[in-house]
Amino acid sequence: MCGIIGAASSRNVGKLLIQGLHKMEYRGYDSAGIALHQKDHVTRLRALGKVQALEDLMIEHKPKSKLGIAHTRWATHGKPSEANAHPHASNEQIYIVHNGIIENYKELTKKLKDSGYQFASQTDSELIAHLIHHHYKNNDLLCAMQSATKELEGAYAIAAVDLNHKDQLVIARYKSPLLIGVGIEENFAASDPLALAQLTSNFVFLEDGDTAVVKKDSYEIFDAKSKSVNRDVTHLDIETSSVTKGEFSHFMEKEIFEQPQSASNTLESRLGSNDVLDNIFGLGSSEIFAKTKRIQFVACGTSLHAGKVGRFWFEEIAGIPCYVDFASEYRYRNPLVEDGTLFVTISQSGETADTLAALRYARDKDYLSTLSICNVPTSSLARESDHVLFTNAGPEIGVASTKAFTTQLVSLLLLAMSIAKSQDKNPIMREAITKELKDLPAAIDESLDTKTAIQKITPAIAEKNNALFLGRGIFFPIVQEGALKLKEISYIHAEAYPAGELKHGPLALVDDSIPIVALSPENDLTEKLISNLEEVKARGGTLYVFGEGQDQFTIDSGSYIGMPKCNKFIAPIIYTIPLQILAYYVACHRGTDLDQPRNLAKSVTVE
Ligand code: M6R
Repeated sequence: MCGIIGAASSRNVGKLLIQGLHKMEYRGYDSAGIALHQKDHVTRLRALGKVQALEDLMIEHKPKSKLGIAHTRWATHGKPSEANAHPHASNEQIYIVHNGIIENYKELTKKLKDSGYQFASQTDSELIAHLIHHHYKNNDLLCAMQSATKELEGAYAIAAVDLNHKDQLVIARYKSPLLIGVGIEENFAASDPLALAQLTSNFVFLEDGDTAVVKKDSYEIFDAKSKSVNRDVTHLDIETSSVTKGEFSHFMEKEIFEQPQSASNTLESRLGSNDVLDNIFGLGSSEIFAKTKRIQFVACGTSLHAGKVGRFWFEEIAGIPCYVDFASEYRYRNPLVEDGTLFVTISQSGETADTLAALRYARDKDYLSTLSICNVPTSSLARESDHVLFTNAGPEIGVASTKAFTTQLVSLLLLAMSIAKSQDKNPIMREAITKELKDLPAAIDESLDTKTAIQKITPAIAEKNNALFLGRGIFFPIVQEGALKLKEISYIHAEAYPAGELKHGPLALVDDSIPIVALSPENDLTEKLISNLEEVKARGGTLYVFGEGQDQFTIDSGSYIGMPKCNKFIAPIIYTIPLQILAYYVACHRGTDLDQPRNLAKSVTVE
């Protein structure tokens, strides 16, 4: 999963391409490269590391050009290195950038090597340049691209330039996102509209099998049968302020503190005075919900944790059973689909390859309908699902998901209420949840005040290499999310357990070297949780407990951090906040690159 961008313009494009790559670093950031057409040759610059390293090279070489392509990489085949960085070239004639995975790369590489092509990298992408070169006849790059892509199996978004044309890019898409940005006297191609936010608001999203020729004053799209087609232009106002850090040190910090607003945006126009409004999941959704007997959730990472929290709500509010599966596992099972099962995907990006593949797999099964909870309206997941609810969190740039998670939780509450409403279940409970949700932005705001107390415990946790997270009931998936946050940005190994399960093994880990973070909200399980924590205390464990009633519990080693009193249904959302803050400050203390942690990428568009 990488980010690709291309530009054909009447002005110099180098800076524009680099700016676009910076916006797409969430897609990968282990190396970057650019190819710029310069009449009699193509200048290619590549650098190991982040886009900044490429930008430094550009400052040094100052190449000027009105046509170019560029790439930021997240390694799949071949380690991060300059040689494996894109653009890849064939015979100093064809230059390409690619996002995706070519599954039949071994056969194609062999075939091309047998015909005399020499490979300079270990990637699966380089062969695309040679394959286009192999098909290149009569100066026709489009035709060569169309013939080459017919041989590719897997997923690709490709942008290519060739030495003989100083005025055109040729692009192709199959199962990896790609769009054209329509400007004035300039047109672009990119993996994400965010990359072009400062250049245009008009976008054309390519469909699977499409190829296109992009010039500064025109573009033409061809479908999978190479027939010229019209695709709609979508107008999107992408707020450029939302892609800058503002007064904050990191995007993650900004996104944590944006959560009162993002929750309020998720709720806007979706709640009436006593209940959720009808058809917020689109026309016809109420009829589907009336027939829903079960839910199958499929998602990855943080979004999967949201599904696990949702399960508790669907059982209680809508009275229907739920199954929750990793998308990467679900797609390789043969699930037995029971009558009346609604298939629900959850995803921030809407481009996660495993989740998208699971949706496509599910479409051939006997599900009642498909629904997605997604943050990116233009994403493949949103476009391919029967029903969608957008979380409206705004762009999330930090690799560690924060506001996307809490807005997913809000959306899941709205879904559980909508299903209950369509089935005439629990009207009093729905009214109570409506009230709780209206108070949610203020309650999140209050929970952000835990920041100061958390900063005090940070150094003690930051010096350890392991941590245990404990919670019970609906708070178990919340501590799973807290442990994931700590791992991914601070590189501390963190494991989450339901507190009652400790005595079945993990208690053996407890000594003074492992901090134990626990959530102790006021609910039916508080007493049981406290007994579990006493077991930890008795074994010398250091406890960091977030709860609402310190009087019930004394801590010998560690700290108790008071939480605002909060109501039952929104409590899991509120208790998420201090765990995000904790991970953030621990990572700051350890000095990690927390917006772009090692080995990860924001949007995982490869399997
Ligand atoms: O875009 P998605 O929600 O589908 O992404 C799924 C996961 O890759 C994502 O949640 C990942 O686990 C986050 N980095 C966690 O913070």
